[in-house]
Amino acid sequence: MLLQRLTRSSRLPTPLFRCVSTQTPGPSEPLRRPNTNTASFGFQTVKEDEKESLVKNVFDSVASSYDLMNDASSLGVHRLWKDSFVSGLKPGKHGPMRCIDVAGGTGDIALRILDYAREKHYDRETTVDVADINAQMLKEGERRFKQTMYHNTPQVSFNVANAQSLPKERFADNSYDLYTIAFGIRNCTSIPSVLEEAYRVLKPGGTFACLEFSRVNNPLLATIYDQYSFSVIPLMGTILAGDRASYQYLVESIRRFPPQPEFAQMIRDAGFSTGPDVDGGAWSDQWGGIACVHKGVKL
Ligand SMILES: C[S@@+](CC[C@H](N)C(=O)[O-])C[C@H]1O[C@@H](n2cnc3c(N)ncnc32)[C@H](O)[C@@H]1O
Repeated sequence: MLLQRLTRSSRLPTPLFRCVSTQTPGPSEPLRRPNTNTASFGFQTVKEDEKESLVKNVFDSVASSYDLMNDASSLGVHRLWKDSFVSGLKPGKHGPMRCIDVAGGTGDIALRILDYAREKHYDRETTVDVADINAQMLKEGERRFKQTMYHNTPQVSFNVANAQSLPKERFADNSYDLYTIAFGIRNCTSIPSVLEEAYRVLKPGGTFACLEFSRVNNPLLATIYDQYSFSVIPLMGTILAGDRASYQYLVESIRRFPPQPEFAQMIRDAGFSTGPDVDGGAWSDQWGGIACVHKGVKL
């Protein structure tokens, strides 16, 4: 259904969106890394090489309303999660840092990193390279940065790039102190490839930090959250952005993301060191696991 709607509104030729299977696993069914060349696209299973175009279509469609919808659908809470994510990383505390914000979209995390370093540590040398596969999202980010003191300074750059294969000539091995990815990794076709790239570009001792929607373990909260997200968010998408399908995908993709311990293991499999597999160790739940911060250090 979702695929059909996206296909209809897409400018790309129909065969790109042929669905391999339309089986719809339940929201609580954990994501399994497909052993065939398939990937989850919300609750749908599609060919791996189709997912990227489908995700690109979603973000092309939501780019201009993304910030408004983020505020509306989370009632502003995404701002608190992002503030706490960045302040937990303390950019600038130990001197200027070279940061990369992947799937950085409209620059929410980059702006917070630069503001934090400047406001808390009088640091105007920390830099953030924002990388995103979607030029429309980056364009919104650049527009927004024009209103800031960072515009036209070496402190920020916007780069169209795929998290799974960051161009080596632009993003060299062992070159960043901090790698952030917020609400982005679940949209990528291969999470292990993203983690591999994060490991490659970080310096030894560098930090990987991911903010992502995750698994709510409290059954009562999970029920309320499910009700809210499956009914209210797609409805808001229709009203505020005229686009129900994209917001339905965003909600579904959250449910397909691996639970906290499984994702922590993927981070270790990529070579990072993490804390123990408990809340407050390898990850820190926000609001009962609605969102979650995972961190790893490249040794
Ligand atoms: C939900 S938005 C998050 C944007 C921003 N990080 C934030 O927190 O507001 C997800 C972003 O992931 C980007 N994205 C999806 N797949 C990607 C990929 N393979 N490589 C890089 N970016 C990707 C999308 O274009 C989109 O901008």
